[in-house]
Parts: sequence; C-alpha cells; structure tokens
Amino acid sequence: MSDTTRQIDQMIPLCEPRMTGKEWDYIKDCLETNWVSSVGQYVDKFEGQMADYVQKKYAVACVNGTAALHTALLVAGIQPQEEVLVSGLTFVAPVNAIRYVGAYPVFIDVQPDTWQMDPQKVKNFLSNQCELKEGCLVNKTTKRRVRAILPVDILGHSVDMDPVLDVARQYGLFVIEDAAESLGALYKESKVGSKADISCFSFNGNKIITTGGGGMLVTDNRDWAERCRYLTTQAKDDPLESIHEEIGYNYRLTNIQAAMGVAQMAELDAYVKIKRSNAKKYHEGLSDIEGLSLPQEASWAKATFWLYTVLIDENVFGMSSREVLKDLKKEGILTRPFWHPAYRLKPFQSCYADQQEIVDKLYARGLSLPSSVGLKEEEQRRVIQKLKDCQKS
Ligand SMILES: Cc1ncc(COP(=O)(O)O)c(C=O)c1O
Repeated sequence: MSDTTRQIDQMIPLCEPRMTGKEWDYIKDCLETNWVSSVGQYVDKFEGQMADYVQKKYAVACVNGTAALHTALLVAGIQPQEEVLVSGLTFVAPVNAIRYVGAYPVFIDVQPDTWQMDPQKVKNFLSNQCELKEGCLVNKTTKRRVRAILPVDILGHSVDMDPVLDVARQYGLFVIEDAAESLGALYKESKVGSKADISCFSFNGNKIITTGGGGMLVTDNRDWAERCRYLTTQAKDDPLESIHEEIGYNYRLTNIQAAMGVAQMAELDAYVKIKRSNAKKYHEGLSDIEGLSLPQEASWAKATFWLYTVLIDENVFGMSSREVLKDLKKEGILTRPFWHPAYRLKPFQSCYADQQEIVDKLYARGLSLPSSVGLKEEEQRRVIQKLKDCQKS
C-alpha cells in the first residue's frame, strides 16, 4: 500500500458508495454471458425498477445524469435562443445541458430555508419580466422566448413542485426536473421526480445509489420515452442499413453498469433510512453551536439528506466555511462548500439572472459534512467534535 493510499484510507470521505448487495454476482453474470454492452436484461430490469419506484410509466437508462438532462431538453423540443428557468444554486450540469441545446439559462433565486428554487420568484419573473408576443412568452430584457422550467432538487430535498407546476401550466411551459441528488426523497406523498413532465437522475459515484456513472430519464409521455431511446442510441432509423435521419448520441448505459444499478436499487430504501438516521444524529450533536444553522426539512418534504449541509455564519461562528473546510481537512475530514453561484461562472455571465440575493448569501456559508451511507458512529462523533473544536480554536 502506498503512503497516499494509506492516507486516503484514514480520511472520512464526503460521500462514498456502499456495495454490499448483489453487485458482484450480477456483474459476474454479465461477464460470464458476454452481455456487457448497451443492451441486456439488467438494462431492462433497471429501467423497470426505476419506473416503478418513481411511479412513472417509462424509464430510459442513460450514460450519466448530464446526458439525461441533455436528452430531456432535446425531447421537450427546446430550441436554440430559447430560455429555460433554472435554480441559481446548483451543480453546473443542468446549466451546461441548457447550453448544449443552444438555449440560455435564466437563473432564479432560491428559498432561504430550503435552499431550493423559489416558486414565488419563478412566478414574479414570469409575470413581471416577461410578456406575451404573438402567442409566445418572451423575456422583456433578452427578447428570448421562455420555454421551460428546470427545478433542481438539491442535496436530497425536494423543490416545492406544486406551485412550480401550476405556474408552468398557466404559461404553457414544460417542467424538466433535475432530481439527480434526491432519489428516494418525497414531495408530499410522491417520490421526487414523479411530478414533472420529464425527470432526470444520476448514478454517479457520490449519489445515494451508484452505477459508477449512469443516469435515468423518467416520464409518462410514451412518445418522449421512445424519442429518448432513439436519440440516446445514435438515432438509428434502420440499424441494418445504418440509416440515421437525425443526429443521435451514444448515451446508453451498459448492461454491466445497469447490473450494479439493479443490485443498488434493492438497497435504496435502506440507504434512505440510514441517511435520515445519520442526519438526526448530526442534528442532535450540532444543535447548540452558535453561528451554525442546520438543514431544514420543509413541511411538504421528506428529505434523504443526501449531503448533510450546514450554514456557517462567519461573524458568529468565528470562522468562515472555507476556513472550517481547511481545518477539518487537516483532521482527515472531507467536506465540501456550496457551488459557486452559477450566474457568476464565466460561461454564463452574460445570461439573465433574476436577483440572486439568497444564492449569494448561502454560497459563502454552505458546508456539506461527511454523509456516506457507511459513515461509522465513531466517525460521525469525530466530525461533530472537530467542528465544535474549530469554534473554540
Ligand atoms: C444536481 C445535479 N444534476 C446533474 C448531475 C449530473 O449527473 P452526472 O454526474 O451523472 O452527469 C449532478 C451530479 O453529478 C447533480 O448534482
């Protein structure tokens, strides 16, 4: 074992996968039967399991969550120069996907308590900053047509979807949900990802369940599901004669990865339970620290606490979130700050950003703590203690 490996082994990771189910057996089955590529029984099974779980009619497996988002925007028919409303506080993937189809993001601020896209601000933007022109909703400032809303359920907690869906219906917009971080969470009585016209998931290594890399699209729209399958398989119109009427993509998930997914799906509910129980322990251990705010669960949500994230008020706590991150790293504890506000990133600086007051406030304060399903009790106690020590030092 090299020194680097030994050091990494002793670290408490941010969020690592756990594979203690049938992963090996199913992957071995793929290797033994030669079904290793993008068709096979595990792809079909994984798609079926996801459709059942999220209570949608169709599920289409994809090479990763970003490709799923790209495909979702394509099947929704989002055109170059159009606009899509997206949460201002998000990992960059959905924003990139909007640009892949030549459309532009419009950044919407988030709620101060849930940190999710604020439906009231969506409403305000659409009613105050847009106008109807020849039957199309147009952003008065950019003159671009607004076509869709892309809420992102961050950190294992749902967006308040009903008012988003209501306002989308009112203005004739599609809702494309990025549920990559929130598989297993609930919105009211429904699984996250079940409410939108089309929703996307990720099975990247840090997600609640993983296929190494992978994604999934779910929808009730049969035409859209078929089109997802078509576009993600190189748009094959005649596979024998290699006729392709459109530009397609090689975006399918392999049977080997899907085999891992099938095994992981069997563990999903247990993983949600473990994450919620670990969140409770963090809540109990961290509740009396001044300058530290704990994540809240909205009355309409049941969160997975995929990444348990706290807010650090530098003036009260005595250290900034970035300073705490550095101190904890020295102690072998890996944490992660909130994403840089997307509207300030170089590729998106010219895009329309509605006021981003909450995003700007949160970004400096957010810090995600170790949240692996396999987080041991003594490790969690160490994280809590070291965080308390940061304040004292
Ligand atoms: C909110 C969000 N959307 C999309 C993605 C992209 O998924 P992938 O990494 O599978 O492409 C991720 C994470 O990776 C994410 O956190």
